[in-house]
Amino acid sequence: MNPVLSAKSYTSPMYFIWICANDADKIADLFTFRIKPMSIRQLLSDRVTAAMRTAGIPKHCQAHIAPSKNPRFGDYQANGAMGAAKAMGKNPRELAQNIVNHLNLKGIADKVELAGPGFINIHLNKGWLGEQILAFCRQPEAELKTRSPQNVVIDYSSPNLAKEMHVGHLRSTIIGDAMARLLELQGHNVIRQNHVGDWGTQFGMLLVELEGQLSNSESALLALKDLEGFYQRAKQNFDTSKEFANKSRETVVKLQSGDKDIIELWQQFKDTSLAHSQEIYDLLNVTLSAKDVRGESFYNDDLQALIDKLKKQDLAVEDQGAQVIFLEELADKDANPSAVIIQKQDGGFLYATTDLAAIRFRVNELKADRIMYFIDARQSLHMKQVFTVAKKANFVPASTSLEHHAFGTMMGADGKPFKTRDGGTVKLAELLNEAIERAEKLVRDNNNEKNIELTEETYREIGRKVGIGAVKYADLSKTRTNDYVFNWDAMLSFEGNTAPYLQYAFTRIHSIFRKAEVSIDSLGGDISITEDHEKSLAIKLLQFPDILDQVSEEAYPHLLCTYLYDLASLFMRFYEVCPILKNEVSEIEKSSRLQLCAASSLVLQIGLNVLGIETMERM
Ligand code: ARG
Repeated sequence: MNPVLSAKSYTSPMYFIWICANDADKIADLFTFRIKPMSIRQLLSDRVTAAMRTAGIPKHCQAHIAPSKNPRFGDYQANGAMGAAKAMGKNPRELAQNIVNHLNLKGIADKVELAGPGFINIHLNKGWLGEQILAFCRQPEAELKTRSPQNVVIDYSSPNLAKEMHVGHLRSTIIGDAMARLLELQGHNVIRQNHVGDWGTQFGMLLVELEGQLSNSESALLALKDLEGFYQRAKQNFDTSKEFANKSRETVVKLQSGDKDIIELWQQFKDTSLAHSQEIYDLLNVTLSAKDVRGESFYNDDLQALIDKLKKQDLAVEDQGAQVIFLEELADKDANPSAVIIQKQDGGFLYATTDLAAIRFRVNELKADRIMYFIDARQSLHMKQVFTVAKKANFVPASTSLEHHAFGTMMGADGKPFKTRDGGTVKLAELLNEAIERAEKLVRDNNNEKNIELTEETYREIGRKVGIGAVKYADLSKTRTNDYVFNWDAMLSFEGNTAPYLQYAFTRIHSIFRKAEVSIDSLGGDISITEDHEKSLAIKLLQFPDILDQVSEEAYPHLLCTYLYDLASLFMRFYEVCPILKNEVSEIEKSSRLQLCAASSLVLQIGLNVLGIETMERM
């Protein structure tokens, strides 16, 4: 049905809402008002592509729009003419001229010129840029929405509950959460899955240890207060006492067969350990909650059926009593297929078995269009194996995207994996509290120097936002696939690509509004861009939707960090060069520049919020 033609009354407001929801793109094309997100790149791409088609260039040739690196070459470039000329056996410069002849950028660009072998340089119109920013600021949420929302399952954090969360879990938690926030902002249906390790043989010894301590009238909460110490005690008892070891093995069997008392004990262990993790999530300002936990145990009942299915498909074969899948496609250099064990000789299941069951659940029950895993690069082979089996077994339709977004290790200053001074694992709770203390002291010392006074309560809040922000940003701003070196001084610096620098830039903007005695929400009037610094800032602001799209596709949050850092730097330069509150500035100019300040504040805030970093109006 064509909603436009079938309308009884085009003028009814309800009908208008209905068509917006149903056929927004089509309607937007009919009337050229903004109801779909429109980035500069997308708009230029659409227009240049249209010109290419009119110029007779075949469909597979693309416009290749990119921001110009040098303002001499305009603000944006269309670089598709060279490729098209090659494909068509034509002269690139002539073809580019032909595209320009058909290119309609009326009101959008002041000047379109040819350069070099066939680059098309586009100089955007300042008035148009101002209008675009105002349109973005009027309804930023709507402007950032995707045209094709998906069900996205994000598997992140996923610690093993037997131990306390340590720095090894930090990266997955922080990066995964930023991606969850971003995709949600864009209007996707995000389903967080905290695939915690809550099953397996080690739970035998942990439960026997817990049982012993409970019979000493300790509560589970008290016994598990130091989860790390608890694990070590259990392990030591297991290694030194035959009786303890035997009892542990019996307990595993009881756990697996669903023995009521043992399950109850296990549930107590799980609840207490999860409560520890939740404390960390809350402190970290991470959006995971109890409802996102779906641990390995959840899939337990499906594992035998899964094995049977894989056997029936002749994918799983018996090898030395175990069930194994041999994957030719992942063979090593000597052509030995990669072996995935999915059931041990003794009937026990493995990590891969559970992950396969999880994929089935995510596809069939959660209706995932896209499944993203944020797991350490050391598990890359495991993920490849699981994905390959899942596809071969037809557990996933071809349209579902399975993505392992791997990341490197967090290193200490010595270039080795980050450890405590005596070589132990660094507990997250301790690390985060140290970050908060350091940040609070830093801000306090800074303010004392400048004779700025703030209340104790404000300092504590700033310390938390800056400290936690610094830890998260230090991680997010590095290319995730590399290892990165944890460095307090670098992450807490007010200069450079750091959270404190961005948070400080945000406070600067708000101090302008305080000085102007104007509320940031009550601005009106146009944005009239005259200076080059204003124009650069405006273009940067309008690149925000493009960057978010790129990050949501590629899952590299450092691209957003770099963008925000560039934006903050351009803002600072604009502020130095373009006076706002000085007497000689006209009212029109002042109001226009304040609007640019407000737009910068908005983009910084949304961007930092995507990264899970809080802002404040003064610090
Ligand atoms: N619990 C695992 C670990 O700590 C990570 C689980 C990641 N998710 C998954 N579906 N395998 O190493």
